[in-house]
Amino acid sequence: MGARGGSGLYVGRRAAALVAAVLLALLAALLALAALYGRCRGEEAPPAPPSPPDGTAGGAGVPGDPPGVPSWRRLPRHLLPLHYDLELWPRVRPGQAGPFSFVGQVNITVRCRQDTRAAVLHSAGLRSRGAAVRGPLPEPGDAVRGPLPDPGAAVEVAGLRQEAAGEVAVLELRGRLRAGRRYVLQFGFQGRLEEDLDGLFLTRYTDQGRSSVLIASQLEPTYARTVYPCFDEPAMKATFNIRIIHDPSYVALSNMPAIDTSEMRDENGSLWTVTTFNTSLKMSTYITAFVICDFDYVTRTERGNEIRIWARKEAVKNGYVDYALNITGPIFSFLEDLLNISYPLPKTDLVALPDFGAGAMENWGLMTFQESSLMYLPSDKFTSRKAMIAIIVSHELGHQWFGNLVTMNWWNDLWLNEGLASYFEYLGATFVQPKLSLDKIFYDHVVQPVLREDNEVGVRSLSENEDKIKGSFSLISLFDSITYNKGASITWMLSGFLTEKLFIKALNSYLKEFSFSNANQDDLWTHIQMVVDAQDEVQLPASVKKIMDSWTCQNGFPVLTLNITTGTISQEQFLNKKNENTSTDSYNNTWIVPISWMRNGSSKPLIWLDKSSNFFPEMQVSESEYDWILLNVNLSGYYRVNYDQLNLKRLVHLLENDPKAIPAVSRFQLLDDVFALTQFGYIQIETALELTKYLAREDELFIWNVVLLNLVPENLESTLKNYEVYPLLKKYLLKRMLPIYHYYAGFIRQNVDALEPDYFAQVYLEKLFATACWLGLQDCLDLSSELYTKWMDNTQYKIPFLIRRTVSCYGVALGSDKEWNFAWEMYNHTDSTKEDKDILLSAMSCAKESWLLHRYLQYGLSDTLFSSNCTSIIISYVVTKDIGHRIAWDFVTENWPLLSERYGKELLHDVLKVMGRFVNTDVQIQELQVFYNTTLEEDERVTATLLLEFSKIENMERRQLLTKVADWLHKNVDD
Ligand SMILES: *[C@@H]1O[C@H](CO)[C@@H](O)[C@H](O)[C@H]1NC(C)=O
Ligand SMILES: *[C@@H]1O[C@H](CO)[C@@H](O)[C@H](O)[C@H]1NC(C)=O
Ligand SMILES: *[C@@H]1O[C@H](CO)[C@@H](O)[C@H](O)[C@H]1NC(C)=O
Ligand SMILES: [Zn+2]
Repeated sequence: MGARGGSGLYVGRRAAALVAAVLLALLAALLALAALYGRCRGEEAPPAPPSPPDGTAGGAGVPGDPPGVPSWRRLPRHLLPLHYDLELWPRVRPGQAGPFSFVGQVNITVRCRQDTRAAVLHSAGLRSRGAAVRGPLPEPGDAVRGPLPDPGAAVEVAGLRQEAAGEVAVLELRGRLRAGRRYVLQFGFQGRLEEDLDGLFLTRYTDQGRSSVLIASQLEPTYARTVYPCFDEPAMKATFNIRIIHDPSYVALSNMPAIDTSEMRDENGSLWTVTTFNTSLKMSTYITAFVICDFDYVTRTERGNEIRIWARKEAVKNGYVDYALNITGPIFSFLEDLLNISYPLPKTDLVALPDFGAGAMENWGLMTFQESSLMYLPSDKFTSRKAMIAIIVSHELGHQWFGNLVTMNWWNDLWLNEGLASYFEYLGATFVQPKLSLDKIFYDHVVQPVLREDNEVGVRSLSENEDKIKGSFSLISLFDSITYNKGASITWMLSGFLTEKLFIKALNSYLKEFSFSNANQDDLWTHIQMVVDAQDEVQLPASVKKIMDSWTCQNGFPVLTLNITTGTISQEQFLNKKNENTSTDSYNNTWIVPISWMRNGSSKPLIWLDKSSNFFPEMQVSESEYDWILLNVNLSGYYRVNYDQLNLKRLVHLLENDPKAIPAVSRFQLLDDVFALTQFGYIQIETALELTKYLAREDELFIWNVVLLNLVPENLESTLKNYEVYPLLKKYLLKRMLPIYHYYAGFIRQNVDALEPDYFAQVYLEKLFATACWLGLQDCLDLSSELYTKWMDNTQYKIPFLIRRTVSCYGVALGSDKEWNFAWEMYNHTDSTKEDKDILLSAMSCAKESWLLHRYLQYGLSDTLFSSNCTSIIISYVVTKDIGHRIAWDFVTENWPLLSERYGKELLHDVLKVMGRFVNTDVQIQELQVFYNTTLEEDERVTATLLLEFSKIENMERRQLLTKVADWLHKNVDD
């Protein structure tokens, strides 16, 4: 659910094509700079050195990595874990100062598959406190074959070697472990507890005015090995008996219910509590979890499953987790009924952590969330927050089946976890929030954002080759929008062409077969194929594997071109036309594409395109203007459509006369597609603009939003004002925006609460109002002044949050120093939240009088008035305003010594990026160069120059494009 990509129409990717070489150099320089500033957090790992083969060959020897190669290892398969007995003891008492550590013991029962003289397992950052191996353990058949071996017999340990780079511990033995027998590996260990949000970590927070600490864990993808030595691969599932030793004032939680608590004294005689948990089901290490805290909870039972939601005491008391409690049970039942498989654990805990790196984590039976992903404050009257909580909770509940019950074999198929959970999150969320429209929200949140990303050469495919994901490959980089959004989009397509009934049937069969075990993508295809073969209603043009591999094993997606004169549809990979197409692919860039379609308003049976182009006689249209075709209805597939001029003309005509003849999601697609096709050089901007003519009759905010993001990108508001296109855009757009603007302005003035169920109003109304005010709509300006004044008169009054940013900005912009000073006062008010403060910081940069902006920047420099990290935020707000950018630039150059000392050169980069938007001539570049020639080091100068050159090219392209837009608007503005 990342933020929407900001690149609008005027930020031509074509520029990138023109200066590909320049860009590469720029990138290299930027990376070097980033490393210099210590910002690069290892996400861009250096190219992988050839890694040594996994040590699966010999019995004893495991080849070591060459020293210094940062590559974690896959484990050999000689030993497979069956069961862990794990004890963790974080040595933390309330009120103690750090540093903190934890000690632990683990006994791992393993089955030996192949004779070996070494046990290799994962361990990272742990200090050993002894290791031993016992066995072989007696087996049921032993008695008849001879005397029982002694279960306590030790296999002598020759040494324990830690390979830090490989993140493994190698236990070398004097004896041989025998294939077929079971052994117990015993380790004592010790680790550090940091406040780092990975592995087992510590968090400080405030509750009821007192400061407290808690301990929690985050083990995905590979932090389990930093908490206890283990076989840390998703396919090495085992059962767990867990025991946690903690201060008696805390409660300890883990995946299973606690079955016993007892007391224990440490070496100094002081008292600790030992909490013992029931034996778990077979599970992967990355979803084991531990929380030790002093939280309260609310609870409810759903079908015998005890659900508890834990949070800070004051949050529980204030009812902040009641909404989460209200929806968790129903979503559980919904998923159980849909998938027809019961949740196998007796309890579920959801914990709201004050500080947590991931949005949420699905640990089996013990899910963890950021507070903001789980807490609903009674004061947030609106559904957007509820929707977000419902979506996140559903996602994590979906993982209880997809991920926890059935897990991907290896990380290359991570989408089987994340893509499927991301698909079910929308089904669950719309189940508990029925006012959310499933298809609109799915297209808007999931499909559209990833279509905008998945179109560069070099973007990876959804499912990678298993061999590729090893060594220095960054697993974290797999948790991206390809895995989540493309995975969910492909799933949506699959469910669409199979019908939901068959799809769910196939999932049920897949889940049953692989419960408590692992699967790969082909296993899913096999189960779908079985279901398809057993019926004859749905006929597919090829095997499920062949169809689906074309989507998951190659990168990108197709654009379909329809010629309605001939009835031909062709496909090619959607790539920037201006770039060299370097993509060579084993699939020849063809996909097997399901096409649901509509002719003149009536839906037609699904057709398939399984080669690069095909002829469909039913798609040849007549001379009649009313004969039109629409493809990809109901989002049947993950692709874009390029219609020919004739069909587009008919669609334009239709939209102007009867927009509702085209379903809302298809209108959204149509507009999103034409703007994307324009950017990538498939069609001319004029064609896209034709499709905006009907907008006076468009009443869907999510559609307006996509148009405005393209026509008035936020980062260009100040630049666009300098072009002749502005007055034309103003006239053209305002005429079309008025109906929807007045509709919503009426609610804002009279009854804003009535917008509660309107999800898109909560997320997109701000953009509509910001644009209306930016275009100078008098009513919008008046409304802003009116509401801002009302707030000044009574500080208890709250500006409707839907448009608070816009109202605050224009309230200051239209006012004088009185309005500005009020914002300043409110900013310093103790009651204002972080969000309030950010809105006000931004609003104060909206002032229209230069002296106010000057003074604002000066305030920013003052240590006493601001915490010092605000200065760069203030500068970045001021520099984006039309009168502000020059003022900010002068300020930066005048105060450079002080600023560079405080913020380093990063600040200059941010400012240059914005200044770059105003650079049109070499003279302007030279002017900027004069400054940094005297302030920057040589290599940084190169980067800065490239940045500006790049901006110049982009600006030239934008200028050309804007000329075309202006010409078109001239001709059409009076329509
Ligand atoms: C591991 O086994 C030993 C006995 O062999 C026992 O003393 C110890 O408590 C066990 N550790 C755990 C964590 O169960
Ligand atoms: C939770 O459900 C109860 C009972 O249906 C309802 O009264 C309450 O308002 C709900 N709370 C929230 C925050 O939705
Ligand atoms: C459609 O196909 C015909 C015949 O090949 C061709 O003449 C025409 O130019 C095509 N139309 C478009 C818009 O490409
Ligand atoms: Zn997930």
